[in-house]
Amino acid sequence: MTLRISNKMQVVRGSVIRQMAEAAATQEGAISFANGNPSSDTFMVEEFARFAADIFYKDPNSVLQYGLSQGYPPLIHALKDRLSTVWGIDFEKNDLIIVSGGQQACDFASKLLLNEGDVVIVEEPSFASCYNTFRSYGATLVGVPMCSDGMDLDKLEQALKDHSEARMLYVIPSFQNPTGFTTSAEKRQKIYDLAKAYNVAIFEDDPYCELRFSGKDIKPIKSLDQDGLVLYAGSFSKVMAPAFRLGFLVFDKSLTTRMIVSKQCTDVHSSLLFQNITYRCMTECDYEGHLANSRAIYKKKSQLMYVELKKKLHPAIRCSQPEGGLFMMLFLPEGMDATPFVWEALRRGVVCVPGSGFMIDQEAPNNGLRLCYSTATEEEIIRGTDILGNLSHEWLTK
Ligand SMILES: Cc1ncc(COP(=O)(O)O)c(C=O)c1O
Repeated sequence: MTLRISNKMQVVRGSVIRQMAEAAATQEGAISFANGNPSSDTFMVEEFARFAADIFYKDPNSVLQYGLSQGYPPLIHALKDRLSTVWGIDFEKNDLIIVSGGQQACDFASKLLLNEGDVVIVEEPSFASCYNTFRSYGATLVGVPMCSDGMDLDKLEQALKDHSEARMLYVIPSFQNPTGFTTSAEKRQKIYDLAKAYNVAIFEDDPYCELRFSGKDIKPIKSLDQDGLVLYAGSFSKVMAPAFRLGFLVFDKSLTTRMIVSKQCTDVHSSLLFQNITYRCMTECDYEGHLANSRAIYKKKSQLMYVELKKKLHPAIRCSQPEGGLFMMLFLPEGMDATPFVWEALRRGVVCVPGSGFMIDQEAPNNGLRLCYSTATEEEIIRGTDILGNLSHEWLTK
């Protein structure tokens, strides 16, 4: 007997990031700029241990029995408070559920909006795991190139005109994965206006917004939403720990029951233990101080990597300069494919991810490569950028 795989799962693609991580594992002593992990120096390990012990000794049933699908009410309350006061989201109009990471928010947004054959308009390059989620619901992807201040709006409008079957627009507005680019306030407003004019929902994926280390915060598109068009996803993966598997999804109040049923159908509820610990970290600790510490760690690493790259790389290579988050992107001269460059870098002991892994067509040549600075030590950043710098000069003068 042959297992017959559904059309939806036939079209998903393997992750290049995973491929690079596997290749790197065979390369002893390699320096990794590949994984988008947060720095383990940002984990509140003492507090996690103290709160977990306290909960298990004093009230174990509160985290061991079934809980509410929409999430732990005190955490929901604390989040709504922060999202309205800091990020301008209106909870008279909107509601929120706790989900198992931003990735699950993407799954629920897709389940809510997409029928087979629908089009999702996406930034390109972008986070390929969400591309796969959209594909797994039978959607076709249409890419709009990213500029340093967000999507190319002329191309976005053209894509909206050309695809009346578009149901969703996918944006990562802050410190985008993989480019590190941030969508400007003006572009956020224009993206919203265009989505409204063409009656397309926006899935706004914002896991890095709390990690701005230079420039001024920009409010999310959701804060502009008067029409219930925007589904807004956030994550605790980069501000608590990714293994907590916690995030949240904000949506128009009319959708609450559907969202709760989505959660019930998928995994009933997210970990009560980690929701409880997260709530206590947000309300009983110096949460602002914790965020400031994380930002300072990323600022130092990002600036070091940027300065070293500017000094060492061949001048024909462009480098994005993020104002927050975990990523920056290098761009080889137009028309050059970065994939062989990335394999040669790996052979010399530095792991990075080729830009093709973030494109709709992963086979097409692409001149970008993503560098993540969050987990490397300063010494590794200096040594790794030495290797990339030397390679770039050899590569571009050969
Ligand atoms: C843009 C983006 N969205 C979503 C996610 C998923 O994050 P999580 O499911 O861990 O919250 C990531 C993770 O790296 C990401 O970069």
